[in-house]
Amino acid sequence: MCGIIGYVGTRSPRSLILDGLGRLEYRGYDSAGLALLVGDDNGGRRFATTRTVGNLERLLEAAGADDGAHAALGLGHTRWATHGRVTQENAHPHASADERVVVVMNGIIENYQRLRSELQGQGVVFRSETDAEVLPHLIARHYQGDLAEAVREVLPLLGGHFAFVVAHADEPERLVAARRECPLVVGVGEGEHFVASAIPAFLRETREVMTLEDDEVVSVTSHGMQIFDAHGGRSERAPHTVEWDADSAEKSGYPTFMLKEIHEQPSALWDTLGDRLRPDGSIELDGLGLDEAALARVERIHIVACGTSYHAGLVGRYLIEDWARVPVNVEVASEYRYRTCLAGPGDLVLGVTQSGETADTLAAMRVARERGAHVVALTNVMGSQATRDADGVLYTRAGLEIGVAATKTHTAQVMALALLALTLGRLKWAITEAGALDLADELRRLPEVLETYLASSAPDDVGAVARRYHDRPFFLYLGRHVGVPVCFEGALKLKEISYIPTEAYPAGEMKHGPIALLEEGSPVVVVATDGHVFDKVISNIQEVRARGARVIAVATEGNQEIAGHADEVLWAPRVPALLSPLTAVVPLQLFAYEVAQALGLNVDQPRNLAKTVTVE
Ligand code: G6P
Repeated sequence: MCGIIGYVGTRSPRSLILDGLGRLEYRGYDSAGLALLVGDDNGGRRFATTRTVGNLERLLEAAGADDGAHAALGLGHTRWATHGRVTQENAHPHASADERVVVVMNGIIENYQRLRSELQGQGVVFRSETDAEVLPHLIARHYQGDLAEAVREVLPLLGGHFAFVVAHADEPERLVAARRECPLVVGVGEGEHFVASAIPAFLRETREVMTLEDDEVVSVTSHGMQIFDAHGGRSERAPHTVEWDADSAEKSGYPTFMLKEIHEQPSALWDTLGDRLRPDGSIELDGLGLDEAALARVERIHIVACGTSYHAGLVGRYLIEDWARVPVNVEVASEYRYRTCLAGPGDLVLGVTQSGETADTLAAMRVARERGAHVVALTNVMGSQATRDADGVLYTRAGLEIGVAATKTHTAQVMALALLALTLGRLKWAITEAGALDLADELRRLPEVLETYLASSAPDDVGAVARRYHDRPFFLYLGRHVGVPVCFEGALKLKEISYIPTEAYPAGEMKHGPIALLEEGSPVVVVATDGHVFDKVISNIQEVRARGARVIAVATEGNQEIAGHADEVLWAPRVPALLSPLTAVVPLQLFAYEVAQALGLNVDQPRNLAKTVTVE
């Protein structure tokens, strides 16, 4: 995790780096730092470094106004602590003993203890508890006038997965960077280069982007770029143009990214459908790496994912099993990767990951691929690691998501899984053509259905309920069938941004434990949308009300019965039952958002979390 950025060029790096860090803050925000290469009193160069604990605002305060010295280049970092507590000493950039080499890093150097002991044996005094600090010391020891060469020599000594940017005060117009299994991209501007963890860091300045392969070393100056492979050979590669719009990294008038992204769900769904769903109802899914005959032969599907993406996978299981009659196993990637993997030829493994960088999901995909399964990455980020590690790709087109609590990427993932389920259903003759056309129509209708909902007074009504309950110490979420993953997602949203403990359970399982938690007035959120289990859910509502609980039901618009059973109703737009996760989750996103707002919390930067988890 952590966000890193470097700039070299003719403009002043200070504001470009601080700006870029602001756009990377979703990756971590417990401390931050900035190093600028400025003139020293003797006509030479030195690094001016500022490091602070807390989010970027603290760094901005500490960095103060421009000190007037024209900086030749700069490095910035926003941290999500892995090794070493959240302290100023542990914040990046880290420097060599003589302060001539400065480094910012994301990831983990797994053998850092051994490297640290060796360096200490050679007399190096460490100033932090981090794994990253071995880098400037090692690079300084290998430096003989060529920074790229020193980095190339150090890379084979490092274990783990990481990305870093380094500068040397004796080479005032050069940044060198390298990566292994952690993201790092180069932004190519006019007379300038950026190196950063993610494209949004420099999207306002350039859309020309160059990606790096594992263990490559890139050296950039204002005007030039050189890429070296592990053996020092040169690689040539042209940058590509990204289509993201710079405004997507702004709040566009919304108070938070999360609220903006909740409201972007209609367009995320629309774009994910895009030209894949044709006017005649047929579906074209390019890029899976499987032709129709091979898709028709798929016998089992495994979905591996983490967090909110895992919940999208759980919804996908209901759709695929119902429409295509293919058995689906859905598992959190951090468990799947260490189990005996039984996937193999004939199996399709879907790695669902909005960022395409989640370490556990990438590892689970690798395990399955080694066993001969066909692995497809379902991701939102073009060129991400998952796309490179997979046999095929299914993109969601949700646009950039900044809020740590995922919203629009989740519903876009469900939409992409629905397209896949429908395609499989047709190829396997598990669904009638008329049935498939009806479902295709329903999918096409969904963006507008959500748009109408979000423009109505319903979101305000959710806010009013949230404000009545925001001070409760615990929420139980219950649902059945497709309502189960909706509960899981709703409960996750609430706990991650409001810090209120939640428990989410299949309603039928509630009697086997969670019911013991209920007392007079306990709020229970029940997903009670229309469908074949509606009556069963009502029975569960009766059971919790009999124990004094207060029921907040998520119900289908127009349902007449629910009012008699629930204390509060959050309405969800009417769609076919199997598609209800796409609509029922939205009031729960809003509910979590409004509770956190009522508690005065920072929803875009919940404590201890990060948007992209590139460590195990
Ligand atoms: C982190 C984020 C979640 C996300 C999960 C998986 O925990 O905070 O919002 O669902 O990672 O991320 P991915 O990029 O693989 O979907």
